[in-house]
Amino acid sequence: MDAYTCIRTKRDTRVYQDRPIPEQSLQRILQAGRMAGSAKNLQLCRFVVLQDTPKKNELATCGQFAQHTPSAPLVVAIVLPQDGREFDAGRCAQNMMLAAWAEGITSCPVTMHDGDCALRVLGIPQGHRVSIVLAFGYPPPSAPGPKGTPRIPLEELVHWGGW
Ligand SMILES: Cc1cc2nc3c(=O)[nH]c(=O)nc-3n(C[C@H](O)[C@H](O)[C@H](O)COP(=O)(O)O)c2cc1C
Repeated sequence: MDAYTCIRTKRDTRVYQDRPIPEQSLQRILQAGRMAGSAKNLQLCRFVVLQDTPKKNELATCGQFAQHTPSAPLVVAIVLPQDGREFDAGRCAQNMMLAAWAEGITSCPVTMHDGDCALRVLGIPQGHRVSIVLAFGYPPPSAPGPKGTPRIPLEELVHWGGW
């Protein structure tokens, strides 16, 4: 799959097959996150990988829309120090999700509305925050296709030569 097709067809999917992520794919996903650029190349993001079901269940209680998280065979939390930039975490997240999708593995970002809950469940030291959690898994045949949620038209999105 070429990069543009990968970007265009990637949908956030909340239903996953009961099928593990191969070790090689896991490594590629994490490497893709690692290769994301960061402000001043400070590389402040850290990843917490969860594959253990009880922990995934616990983490799901920290988000308001996280019910699907435990059914994902792979969950990755992107963690920042308090002064870390969300933009850096976003670059890691999108790199990981696109690298996964290039191998047919779908994903969905999940917000941890109760940040302290996420820190406690993941054993993260004070002075950090969980920027986003990513759920990864193989999509079932019934998963939404490339059309997915509509996007606003380019004419509404883009201002040419100034606002
Ligand atoms: C910052 C961020 C937080 C999100 N948090 C959640 C969440 O907590 N639960 C969830 O189910 N989806 C979450 N999503 C997924 C969005 O709902 C999804 O990106 C949007 O519906 C577009 O989906 P599509 O790409 O499949 O069209 C989040 C997305 C982003 C970018």
